[in-house]
Amino acid sequence: MSVIQKHEEFLQYSEQDIETTLLTPSFRVDLRNPKKEDLDQFITTNIVSDWSQLSWKQIGRPYEVKTVAKDRIEWENHNQTSMPVKTSWEYFNRSFHEWFVKDVPAELEEKKKALAKHLKQFHLGEIKEGVGDLIKLRLWNYVHRIEDGIWDPRGKRALFEGLDIQKPKILFLGAAEGYEAMQLAAMYPGAEVVLVDYDSYCRDYRFAEFPESYPFLGVNPRTGGPKVWYKSDMNIEYVVEDIRNLKYGKEFDIVLSVGLLEHVPDEHKEEILDMHRRFLKPSGYLIMTTPRDQLKSRLYYKIMADVMNHTYRELMNIKQMGLFVYESGFDILRHGYIKVHNGIIAKTR
Ligand SMILES: C[S@@+](CC[C@H](N)C(=O)[O-])C[C@H]1O[C@@H](n2cnc3c(N)ncnc32)[C@H](O)[C@@H]1O
Repeated sequence: MSVIQKHEEFLQYSEQDIETTLLTPSFRVDLRNPKKEDLDQFITTNIVSDWSQLSWKQIGRPYEVKTVAKDRIEWENHNQTSMPVKTSWEYFNRSFHEWFVKDVPAELEEKKKALAKHLKQFHLGEIKEGVGDLIKLRLWNYVHRIEDGIWDPRGKRALFEGLDIQKPKILFLGAAEGYEAMQLAAMYPGAEVVLVDYDSYCRDYRFAEFPESYPFLGVNPRTGGPKVWYKSDMNIEYVVEDIRNLKYGKEFDIVLSVGLLEHVPDEHKEEILDMHRRFLKPSGYLIMTTPRDQLKSRLYYKIMADVMNHTYRELMNIKQMGLFVYESGFDILRHGYIKVHNGIIAKTR
């Protein structure tokens, strides 16, 4: 039985658990801070007061992560050509998903024992590999499990709160496991969610294996008070398609992406932003987040290169991200930093 299945069998959360947090072997459950007024602690906002005054000359261009995953290098050597973009996402999704479903404490123990054995027997190659594995696992334990930096439910709730929408239609472009759309659906009950990703592995594994028992803190539509929501309570359709082929009209209240803009070089950024605009109602909200350019993130992507760097990747700060969004014809309503991402809420101008 996998660690996630065990978690599903034994744990169910309810309103009594609100204001608590708990560490499972794979991730943190965090039901703290249902009060709107407290959410400001989890986001630093209003860094820029007038986007029209900002220029690329002042703020510089994003930082490009150059360390590439071993699997990609091997594929390219074998095929004597550069890896196609879709293949690079397929490699990324399979590699990244493995980490979300780990029993981290058990694997740490196992790796430590193996390393001790190799040290005793003086196996230099295995020692080097074992140390590298342990460093990655410890980093993952800290960033994802202890700090909850990747899912960051409190930061996301702070970013998403207060939108003027009822029973929204939500489109998530490059949805992977769909976490942020589920958080939005919990906060805005009655939501209709469409997750789009062209890698079917995301529908069949990343989303399908996202824990049924993971509690999303949201709103009770009957009382307006807090309520715990689960994936199975939500109205979610998963579409496996290239976002460039979508045929929707301007029908969505929210178009969302998380970690997409930084994966295309500058000449394609406008095209990506246009795909967000294309399906938005005139009153609809664009929501985007991208990883922050900070020293610890640069280090993280260097250490985790074999796990995560199959694709082109940049790190940017909120000014750089905002300027792309502003120059593409959006008005920025809220912007700021959450734990490891920049976040923006905008409307078309
Ligand atoms: C970096 S992931 C998003 C981050 C995500 N939260 C995660 O945990 O991996 C971007 C996703 O977009 C998908 N994607 C990239 N380009 C796409 C396209 N043109 N059409 C559909 N999906 C795309 C990839 O398959 C990938 O699952």
